Amino acid sequence: MRLKLIVQISLITGIVLLFTSALFGYFNISTLKRAFLQSAVSDLDHLGETIFRAVFHQMLKNDRDAIQVTIGEVGEGKGIERIRILNRDGIVAFSTQKSEIGTNLDRKQAPACMACHNNENSLEKSQENPCPLPQSRRFTDSNGKEVLGLTRPIYNEKTCWTGACHAHSRDTLFLGILDITISADPMLLMIRNYRNNTIIQIIFLILSISLCLTLLTKKLIIQPVHTLLKHTRAVGKGDWSLVKSVPGDELGELAEAFNDMTGKLKKNQEEMDAWASTLETRVEKRTRKIKEMQSFLVRSEKLASLGELVAGIAHELNNPLTGIMIHASLISEDPHLDDSLVEDCQTVIHEASRCSKIVKELLDFARVTDPQKEMQPVSKVIDRTTTLVEHHVDFRDTEIIKKYDPDLPEILMDASQVEQVLINMMINASQAMQQGGKLTIRTGVNASRKHIYIKITDTGCGIPEENIEKLFDPFFSTKGHKGTGLGLSVSYGIIRSHGGDIEVESKLGKGTTFTITLPI
Ligand SMILES: Nc1ncnc2c1ncn2[C@@H]1O[C@H](COP(=O)(O)OP(=O)(O)OP(=O)(O)O)[C@@H](O)[C@H]1O
Ligand SMILES: [Mg+2]
Repeated sequence: MRLKLIVQISLITGIVLLFTSALFGYFNISTLKRAFLQSAVSDLDHLGETIFRAVFHQMLKNDRDAIQVTIGEVGEGKGIERIRILNRDGIVAFSTQKSEIGTNLDRKQAPACMACHNNENSLEKSQENPCPLPQSRRFTDSNGKEVLGLTRPIYNEKTCWTGACHAHSRDTLFLGILDITISADPMLLMIRNYRNNTIIQIIFLILSISLCLTLLTKKLIIQPVHTLLKHTRAVGKGDWSLVKSVPGDELGELAEAFNDMTGKLKKNQEEMDAWASTLETRVEKRTRKIKEMQSFLVRSEKLASLGELVAGIAHELNNPLTGIMIHASLISEDPHLDDSLVEDCQTVIHEASRCSKIVKELLDFARVTDPQKEMQPVSKVIDRTTTLVEHHVDFRDTEIIKKYDPDLPEILMDASQVEQVLINMMINASQAMQQGGKLTIRTGVNASRKHIYIKITDTGCGIPEENIEKLFDPFFSTKGHKGTGLGLSVSYGIIRSHGGDIEVESKLGKGTTFTITLPI
């Protein structure tokens, strides 16, 4: 189980405080107890001395009644339990408790006698080395009450054995003892009060110190640690926000180190992201290039095999077709020919010439591999083409706009082949603008300055996405019997044989742009 830091600190502080306070309290109370006892014993000593002085002259005169009265009056004092005088035989001569006068105390049992008669310096052993009196003691009386007792010896002073009564011999050391017992209650009450006060103070001290420590720990340690923990978790989730309020202590240093680390991590992450995106773009670029190469290869292969096939078939067809046309013309010019057959003859001639036109285009398509290149100004080639197509019937409603780059360099090309490409594209454009529109021709040099471009833009119907891939395939046409579908594939073959390329951009309903690039 994981204990929270604040709980651990509070627990340890509490235990240490409790232990030290208890120790401090114990020694304090013990010292005070001893001091109180000493003070009480000293008071008792004074009281003994006072009583002794009060009855001394009465004892010299052997005025027993007066002694008894004095003892009785002093014994009325507050807290005094008993005052008595014992003679040297242990018989109670005077006492505030009159019932015990005349009784003989057991020297070994009575608390007043035990102090001297029950130890090494016992009076029975040596008169010369007497017990060091007065003796004080603390004991429990017959009522179970705690009391303090003082036993004071009454010595045989000179005034005693020279007195008028002459009651005592000179050799006697002791005449008796004065025994006083007072209640220990006031002293015990004071000790109890002091102990209770000390306990309350200790509890208050522990509580206030614990509270202060807890609040300080929370503010100075727990809160900054929580903030750091929150930010660490956030960094783990990719949030790079920094710790804002940094305290000026060790935790502040930690926060600064954390911010430093977060900054470096963020920078590394950004570098990695940038690197990943560069890699992605590079991969995309390469993939596009590979796809282009692939489609070019497929197209080139198709064109090559188709070219061979077409060249063979076209040659084979050309002669019979010429024969059909010549013979059909001869028949149609024959005056003996039935009028009803003249029209059929014309149809034969028309269809045969259409076939011948297709054969011619097929031959053009097959011939593209061998261009006759010369340095040519591009704008002139374009101008020649536009002059040709302007008179075409499809261009009636078409506005031709030319935007040439005046600094365009001359390039190496077979002008008639490039013209053929341009005518194909311009006718396609005009056919896409049946209701009329604008045909814009732009030229310029590419950013790499290695190629020139010719852009042919129309405002026609546009090309559906799915047809874009098939545009350059031989025989792909959406014009039914009006088109052979060879225009763009022948154009593509010509431009590739010049080391260039053709690209298409189209938006359905908005128009199409064909971009031809040729190497400088
Ligand atoms: N500018 C253009 N706008 C819209 N579609 C076009 C455009 N150019 C070409 N196309 C589409 O591409 C197809 C192929 O064109 P291509 O020139 O190869 O053959 P064609 O024009 O159909 O026939 P041909 O050129 O032999 O008369 C066209 O049928 C047409 O659908
Ligand atoms: Mg065409």
